[in-house]
Amino acid sequence: MPGPQMLDTKRILLVITGGIAAYKCLELIRRLKERGAAVRVVMTKAAQQFVTPLSVGALSGDRVYSDLFDLTAEHDIGHIQLSRDADLVVVAPATADIIAKMAAGLADDLATNVLLATNKPVLIAPAMNPMMWAHPATTRNVGWLKGTGVTIVGPNVGAMAERGEFGPGRMVEPMELLAAIEAHFAATDAPKPLAGKHIVITSGPTHEPIDPVRYIANRSSGKQGHAIAAAAVAAGARVTLISGPVTIPDPTGATVVHIETARQMLEAVEAALPADIAIFAAAVADWRVEGQSTQKIKKGASGTPGLQLVENPDILATIGKHATARPQVVVGFAAETENLTANAEAKLLKKGADLIVANDVSPETGIMGGDRNTVRIISRNGVEDWPEGSKEDVARRLIERVGALLGGAEPIG
Ligand code: C5P
Repeated sequence: MPGPQMLDTKRILLVITGGIAAYKCLELIRRLKERGAAVRVVMTKAAQQFVTPLSVGALSGDRVYSDLFDLTAEHDIGHIQLSRDADLVVVAPATADIIAKMAAGLADDLATNVLLATNKPVLIAPAMNPMMWAHPATTRNVGWLKGTGVTIVGPNVGAMAERGEFGPGRMVEPMELLAAIEAHFAATDAPKPLAGKHIVITSGPTHEPIDPVRYIANRSSGKQGHAIAAAAVAAGARVTLISGPVTIPDPTGATVVHIETARQMLEAVEAALPADIAIFAAAVADWRVEGQSTQKIKKGASGTPGLQLVENPDILATIGKHATARPQVVVGFAAETENLTANAEAKLLKKGADLIVANDVSPETGIMGGDRNTVRIISRNGVEDWPEGSKEDVARRLIERVGALLGGAEPIG
């Protein structure tokens, strides 16, 4: 358990928005102060309907900021400064409204200006009616924020302030939020095993054009590759992520190169070298269309067009066997629907990889496009099954393993 002074020297900017759960922030501020944190508070207009700036200010020991056009405050500390003078920004309770504004990048009051201008990590504790939480717009907004690196804490399931309403939407309790804040600092203050290392990661599908409007693609979402990039950033690495067309946001802290075709992906990987580690998580199309049409192919007299396919360059094999710039650790993926281990072992040798992360992508597993993954790790030292976990869990574990290989703590094989 972290000691009571665990948050000593930490500066927290707490943004309180207008929800009934705002009262929980009073307790949170007390506990943060108890642990030595400096707490500065921004309140929206609506938040002040639920708790008063007087009680908040008395507990934080500082004035409360609420007005974007408060000249004294702007003179004293401008809203940009306010957004930067913190180690962590916490939004609690985070209403559906502030979440939507954050996702859209709106800035129409002090809280939203601060949130748009900040360059610091952000943690939010949603609180709203279960129907609002379940609304597709909220799901989209929360998913988007998560993808940009915002940490979402809760909500809990329980009774709502409105009579008879029950479900997910209750803000987490102050001590739970405190634990999430402490966990955040424990992670950021932790040693960075990949500090000073450059890691190149491929992710997502490739699109291979048939004509100007049509292409060949596959079902890869990029979730696993992007999660690996995020885990590598967290481990302190310099990350170059080369991504095919995906609908998920770029991970924070990585240099992202967007490409479409396999050949562009190879070019981008080669341009990113030298690297200490390369992880090829992209589902690269094995073939492209030869002699792609410059005009849209028409239905009609010439009958059904036949597509002549030619093989794409194998990026993993090219880099795994690179004569001059092979990264010290090279990792490939094997998405298979049959003979998982045998196919992955063959790939390890054929492509010159140090590790192969194999997974069964038969439709019934739900792995392709889903949020969870079950993988088998194949190296020259043998085969290892990892328990089912989120794609983030798999990413963290893989980065840990790769770090051990790089540091020599584990033989490459
Ligand atoms: O041969 P297969 O496509 O199953 O190999 C999968 C592994 O090889 C993945 O790591 C994938 O990113 C990589 N690969 C590649 N270039 C290709 C085909 C696959 O880098 N053209």
